[in-house]
Amino acid sequence: MYYLKNNGRLEAYVAYFGISAQISVFFRLKTRISVNKNVNEKIENLRAKIRYHDGKYYVDNTPEIADYEYDQIMIELRSLESSYPQFITPDSPTQRVGGEPVSEFTSFEHRVPMLSIENTYSNEELIEFDNRIKRMLKDVDDIEYVIEHKIDGVAITLWYEDGVFTRGATRGNGIRGDDVTTNLRTVKDIPLRFLETDHIRIPPVIEIRGEIYLPNGDFQILNHGREEAGEAQFANPRNAAAGSLKLLDPQTTAKRPLRLFAYSFGYYEDCKFTNHIDCLEAIEKFGLPVNPHYKLCKNIDEAVSYCNSWETKKSDLDYQVDGMVIKVNSLELHDRLGSTSKAPRWVMSYKYHPEEATTTIKDITVQVGKTGTLTPVAELNPVPLSGTTVSRASLHNFDEIERKDIRVGDYVVVQKAGEIIPQVVKVLTEKRTGNEKQFGVPERCPACKSEVTKEEVYLKCYNPLCTAQAKRRIIYFASRNAMDIEGLGPAMIEQLVDKNVIKDYADIYSLKIDDLIPLERVGEKSAQNLIDAIEESKGRDLHCLICALGIQNIGAHAAEVLSKNFGTLGKLMDASVEELDEIFEIGEITAKSIVDFFSNSHTKDVINKLKAAGVNVNATHNEANSISDIAGKSFVITGTLNGYTRKEIEDIIKGLGGKVSSAVSGKTDFLIAGESPGSKHEKAEKLGTTILNKDGFENLINP
Ligand code: IVH
Repeated sequence: MYYLKNNGRLEAYVAYFGISAQISVFFRLKTRISVNKNVNEKIENLRAKIRYHDGKYYVDNTPEIADYEYDQIMIELRSLESSYPQFITPDSPTQRVGGEPVSEFTSFEHRVPMLSIENTYSNEELIEFDNRIKRMLKDVDDIEYVIEHKIDGVAITLWYEDGVFTRGATRGNGIRGDDVTTNLRTVKDIPLRFLETDHIRIPPVIEIRGEIYLPNGDFQILNHGREEAGEAQFANPRNAAAGSLKLLDPQTTAKRPLRLFAYSFGYYEDCKFTNHIDCLEAIEKFGLPVNPHYKLCKNIDEAVSYCNSWETKKSDLDYQVDGMVIKVNSLELHDRLGSTSKAPRWVMSYKYHPEEATTTIKDITVQVGKTGTLTPVAELNPVPLSGTTVSRASLHNFDEIERKDIRVGDYVVVQKAGEIIPQVVKVLTEKRTGNEKQFGVPERCPACKSEVTKEEVYLKCYNPLCTAQAKRRIIYFASRNAMDIEGLGPAMIEQLVDKNVIKDYADIYSLKIDDLIPLERVGEKSAQNLIDAIEESKGRDLHCLICALGIQNIGAHAAEVLSKNFGTLGKLMDASVEELDEIFEIGEITAKSIVDFFSNSHTKDVINKLKAAGVNVNATHNEANSISDIAGKSFVITGTLNGYTRKEIEDIIKGLGGKVSSAVSGKTDFLIAGESPGSKHEKAEKLGTTILNKDGFENLINP
């Protein structure tokens, strides 16, 4: 600053003494300082833009720019920061994922305890809550309440100092939680710095509390991927959110699309709020998302009817709500009412009863996943529950069967965990007749009969020739996200493996028309179509093949990352754990599973067979495509686009590194909507997904 302000005087001084070398050093320094100043300004402008658009996207739900434009700003910021690392600050939007894995979390003491909430289950109990408050306060008539959804996620607290996110922790026992700052930094809903706002001065210190959750759609995608990767599934979105937040590797947390709804302040300095509703508004102004369905009710009757109105509507939401929270609006009354040791007296939750049904267990079967995990499944007498008929329930693992003492023939209560996956809640032991049969923990794999190994709570079959695993692996290999072999579905694969025609996925490429015709429901034409589809799949891009190999922890996205980084299968096979671990988005556990996979001799044989069959093992996308804004993005197509068949659109997207899915979810980046779009259009609109018409699509592919 001194140099810049006093330029004129210093120049004159240097000139007077005629020291030319010093002049040139000085002017270079001067130029560098002013260039640096410009760069820093530019960086700050880009950050401000990103924060603004984050607010529009995550808080207001009204994005002003397409994801493409947003990504361009982020790319520019990243590139400036990598050229000028001295300007990187921890609150820069680029700094969400940077943390190293930790061996354990440090403990975090809450300055203001994170209390819990008392529960009620009926309208009468709510009215009694209001009466109790009136009795305590004596001088008030009607109490104003703010009603909010009770989000079924994980409670967290976020500390902001001068508007910058500094620390975040879980609730723990209410007095102490875990410091999960690095993981929380990966949650895009959490601004690393508050939005600038004219309406309210940013306090020097403020603690914001809220609930981290995983949307239902993302929960299903996560579990589906885990099932395909042979990993244990999460029982419900809350467990998935809690598990994701407590991962020791923040890079893995970053891959879980965790979201936040903030609902109150904890400790704060130098600011004042009158009502709870003002706090919610301030939180939104700071740039954190508040659930939009909160309502200010004039009295308890209004509050009760608002709570009741959500009982059935809640199932339309894309997140789990296990009730409503009723909060006294006036903060002065909060102080007057105070708290018990467990919960404040100014708040009550109104819990919905989860829907349950009673049925009997016909049988317990065991499924073998593609990496050998054995999962017990209860085969139920079909029973209607929350809108669907439930006939199977996952029993998760064998310890769970023992813990709940579940027997074949038992009457059981089933519930949809998080209203999505049915699970057995309890056994009605009083209904036992004595004919129920205990389920023996298998010592051998039900498919190949080799001995199983116990790993933590899971049983695993490690026989590389196990037919059940082989079937799962082949089904996955041929599936849409992988080699996408049309016509090669589970039923056909079951038959081919059972008849010993194929043993592994490389054998698909030796199939002849005569192998197919004897199969059930296969005619000459469909057999030929399948042979053609198999042939066509040989040319798929490397990322499809990497995904298709079925490496533990590697789904479609990680496969793209690996394809881009290595370019050929050979290079990937030679990579060390350290090399893999260095890649952004690949954590240490994933790196290990890749190296383990390729060091297996059976894998090497299968890969040699694939190569011999002429399957492409090189990335075909060029440099320009690999950095295109399509790479890694998820597309859904609806309606017809004049001039393109559905397959052509899919091929273009895949050729540029994008993914095509069939259903719109929170993970969808673009919906390509042609003429006569279907219900997907509505869903995309609801979710705020970018919708492209033909022109939009063409602009995207030819930027
Ligand atoms: S207010 C002292 N508001 O419910 C109470 N909590 O059972 C402060 N929760 O630990 C919490 N949605 O994790 C509040 N809109 C909401 C909520 C909410 C979910 C959770 C929170 C709390 C638990 C209590």
